[in-house]
This record gives sequence, C-alpha cells and structure tokens, in this order.
Amino acid sequence: MSNTRVLITGANTGIGFATAKVLVQGGADVILACRNPDKAAEAQAELQKLGGKGTVDVIPLDLNSLDSVKAAAELINKRYDSLDVLINNAGIFGDALRFTEDGYEQQFGVNYVGPFLLTQLLLPALKRAKAGRIVHLSSIMHWLGNIKPESFRMTSGSYRAVAAYGQSKLANLLFSHALARQLVGTSVTSNALHPGGVDSEIYRDLPKYQYAVMRHFLIPTRRPAELIAQMAVGVEWAGRNGEYVSAHMPNWQSSRAKDAALADQLYQQSLEMVKAYL
Ligand SMILES: NC(=O)c1ccc[n+]([C@@H]2O[C@H](COP(=O)([O-])OP(=O)(O)OC[C@H]3O[C@@H](n4cnc5c(N)ncnc54)[C@H](OP(=O)(O)O)[C@@H]3O)[C@@H](O)[C@H]2O)c1
Repeated sequence: MSNTRVLITGANTGIGFATAKVLVQGGADVILACRNPDKAAEAQAELQKLGGKGTVDVIPLDLNSLDSVKAAAELINKRYDSLDVLINNAGIFGDALRFTEDGYEQQFGVNYVGPFLLTQLLLPALKRAKAGRIVHLSSIMHWLGNIKPESFRMTSGSYRAVAAYGQSKLANLLFSHALARQLVGTSVTSNALHPGGVDSEIYRDLPKYQYAVMRHFLIPTRRPAELIAQMAVGVEWAGRNGEYVSAHMPNWQSSRAKDAALADQLYQQSLEMVKAYL
C-alpha cells in the first residue's frame, strides 16, 4: 500500500475509522475528510500512533453544505496532484425531517448529493493516478428506497425517515453503477458495497431498548473495513468495475438498483443539481 493515497469521508469513527486503521497499518497515505475538527484531530493522533509508513492528513468536509464540499475538493486538489482512492463512506441515519444548508432532505443531501459533488470534483485527480478507484458505501436498505425527485427537497408528500435513508442508499448504488459505465475505458473504477449491519455510531439516535436488542445482530467495524480496504487497494480488485458486494448479508440488488435508465436519469439530474459548483 506504500505510496497509495486514499481519501476517506467520515473517517473519525465507525466503519470509516476502522478502514483508515487497516489502510494506515498497511502503509497507505490516508486523508481523513471529517466535519468535526476535534474528532478528526483525535482520530489522526490515534492513527499516527499505529506507526504506519504513510502520512495521515485531515481535510475539513461537511457534506451538509455544498460550499464545504467545494472548499474541501479545492484544498485536496491544491495539496495533492493525484488521488488513488476515494471512499465515499460518511453517512447519517436520520430520525426526523431535516434539511441541508442547500435545502435538500438531509439524508439525501448528506448521503448522496454531497458525495456526488465531491466525486465529480475529485475525478480529475483520480484520473491522474495510475489506477484510481472509487468505493461507495451503500446499504441493503436500498431495497426500501425509491427515487422520488419531489422528495429531494420535500416539495410534496409525507416524510418517512427510513424510506428517505433507503432512497439515499439506492442513489449511492445507482451512482456507482452509472459512474462505472462512464468510466469504462479509463483508468478509474467505481464499486459499491453493503457493509453489513455494523456496530457503529450510526444507531446513536435509536431508542436504547431497540439498540440493546439490535446490537446482538451487528458485526464489528473491522469486518467491512477489511473488505473496503481490499476494494480500495487490493490486487484482487484491480480492474473490477460496477460491482456491488456485501461484507455480511447477501449482496442482492433490488430491481430499481439494476435499472440503468434510472441510474442515468438520476446522474443527469444530479449534475443539474450541483452545476453551480462544478
Ligand atoms: N452501520 C451500519 O450498520 C451500516 C449499514 C449499511 C450502510 N452503512 C453505511 O456505512 C457508512 C458509514 O456508517 P457508520 O456505520 O460507520 O456510521 P457512523 O459511525 O455514524 O459514522 C459516520 C461518519 O460519517 C460522518 N458524517 C456524518 N455526517 C456528516 C457530514 N455532514 N459531513 C461529513 N461527515 C459526516 C460522521 O461524522 P461525526 O462523527 O462528526 O458524526 C462519521 O464520521 C454510511 O454511509 C452508512 O450509511 C452503515
């Protein structure tokens, strides 16, 4: 992994932090893109103590704001001439209707719109690497999702937080697939995964009794971290493009996730949504 530069969003805790650990131990240069500077500094210090051969850098990134995404991408592009791997990991599991700074339903905005823009802005740097790789954290919950443009900004309809999470994770998977098709013939690949039901901070807002039951079925963060690290830098993943895998449960995809026309339509819509930042 020496001389391999990997950017992980939301890398200060959970699956992102566990992935950073595996990569740092393997000797990669890791960039932690995080919204909370104190948590990011703590994670950086802990990772540096592992004594890896590579560097551990921090970039401020709040996916709740497209201005912040743009600023983060500018900083990365200024600091580094190329990027080997982008891991779109950061995400939220909301419990109520909230909005991003740009007026998107928050789970759709943070989990999908922000990472979509970040990926677009970092594609040139990934193309400058010898073989760039993009890894998207989707979820088995994409089965609960449908793409409903009227719900992107909640201009109509009633709100169900779980369905909104499902929509954001379906959007991640559709994005990975559409991007993979566009990247055929380039040196960059795009793949997605379901990390499993993982014992991380994502369930912090669940009622305590619900979490107490649920945690018996959850796997430790190390399990998906090892799979993500393989997808990011493993030789066995060289050249693989457009796949969806799972660290825990079956990697079945919903019919909507396999709908190429839907994926291309969402991709074009998304370009339109972020065009002021491109
Ligand atoms: N855990 C599971 O069972 C599970 C299952 C399927 C898919 N996933 C997916 O796996 C990914 C990682 O989740 P996790 O379980 O590791 O969750 P987690 O422990 O809650 O970690 C999420 C990370 O995302 C960051 N984040 C949240 N909002 C952000 C924002 N606006 N801007 C930048 N960073 C932000 C968090 O930062 P803070 O620490 O500052 O909050 C944290 O670093 C997510 O995409 C999630 O949807 C998880």
